[in-house]
Amino acid sequence: MVRILTVVGARPQFIKASAISRCIHERFSSKIRENIVHTGQHYDELLSDVFFQQMQIPAPAYHLQAGSASHGKQTAIMLEGIEEIIQKDEPDVVLVYGDTNSTLAAALAAAKLHVPVAHVEAGLRSYNKKMPEEVNRIVTDHLSSFLFTPTHQGYLNLEREGLKHLHSKPVSPDNPVIINCGDVMYDNVLYFEKLAQKHSTVLADLNLEETPFILCTIHRDFNTDNPQRLKNIVDGLIGVAQTFGIPIILPLHPRTNNTLSKPEFESIFKQIHENKFIKITPPMPYFDILRLLAACSMTITDSGGLQKEAYFLKKPVAIIRAETEWTEIIESGNGWLTDDDPLLLLNACKQGMEFLHGDFPLYYGDGDAAGKILETLTSYLS
Ligand code: UD1
Repeated sequence: MVRILTVVGARPQFIKASAISRCIHERFSSKIRENIVHTGQHYDELLSDVFFQQMQIPAPAYHLQAGSASHGKQTAIMLEGIEEIIQKDEPDVVLVYGDTNSTLAAALAAAKLHVPVAHVEAGLRSYNKKMPEEVNRIVTDHLSSFLFTPTHQGYLNLEREGLKHLHSKPVSPDNPVIINCGDVMYDNVLYFEKLAQKHSTVLADLNLEETPFILCTIHRDFNTDNPQRLKNIVDGLIGVAQTFGIPIILPLHPRTNNTLSKPEFESIFKQIHENKFIKITPPMPYFDILRLLAACSMTITDSGGLQKEAYFLKKPVAIIRAETEWTEIIESGNGWLTDDDPLLLLNACKQGMEFLHGDFPLYYGDGDAAGKILETLTSYLS
């Protein structure tokens, strides 16, 4: 029996973890025991509990309630808590996802205790170390014994940093296993799309059944915490709304909401509220987001996850960043980098709204990334 300790803390990690937990339940239950740690990085019900319920993720065995704090403090609280849990739980491997502070804390705690780390979504790079996520990814990759990349580009990025799969044992951070297994988020979209169609009432609730609309999310710190950038993005959204005259649905991340509620953002908040096309909603459950993505004309986002989910559902995307880790989306002609430039955003939307491009190559695996990850872990650790 391989004992996996999975560490999650933020919304995108609950989504990714559900693909692995489901695969353990369906195909590996006699070979693997999984315990989940929830660090508490995301604690709002709409960012956390609703995902555990809807995606049938097993209840966490451990909860750290780290909550919000500065990066150093938040990571330190998690590091201390995860170290204790690893000592108590004695797992064969610590499984981490993506690039959040929860990922970093778990990788550091495990590596120092000489417990192998398995990193799902390894090898991604924005080549912008000002992003906390980029720092978290690089450190986690270099501490991991198992690196599962979602794309071929991710594999190449690791090779460029000197990480090589030599096919020899014992496996360690100095001699890692590196596999391009595809993206667990693609597994999930294939699995949940029909369920979302059946269960989500979001289109009717928002009066969107007969109307073309754009789905938009904004939550990256470099967009939300910089008044000039946020103002530029809002100006861009207003320009798009006025040009196309269709609803822009904006489910608001708590970080963005917190920022917009500050006195210095009052006029920006007012502009959004007074615009008859921009509709702010609370953060949405996964089924509702999938349903909106499947029905929208296009997406505007700075989220890594939503960029790809748009691609999986064959929707064009304007990425409100200067660079992206998911370079395939741009190279295949299905996405545009607009940074915080209102004109670039408007141009991207003009292309997106007249979108006829039918070619979305399968860069993200065959829909069974979770199976490949668990096959690899059981074959090396049993
Ligand atoms: C984190 C991840 C990011 C991921 C994102 C998904 C890091 C460095 N960043 O960003 O990679 O794409 O999650 O959402 O780990 N807040 C609440 N309620 C919550 C959670 C957060 O109000 O449940 C507010 C707090 O004011 C907090 C702020 O949002 O300070 C930011 O939360 P944080 O966990 O630092 O990062 P995210 O922006 O969510």
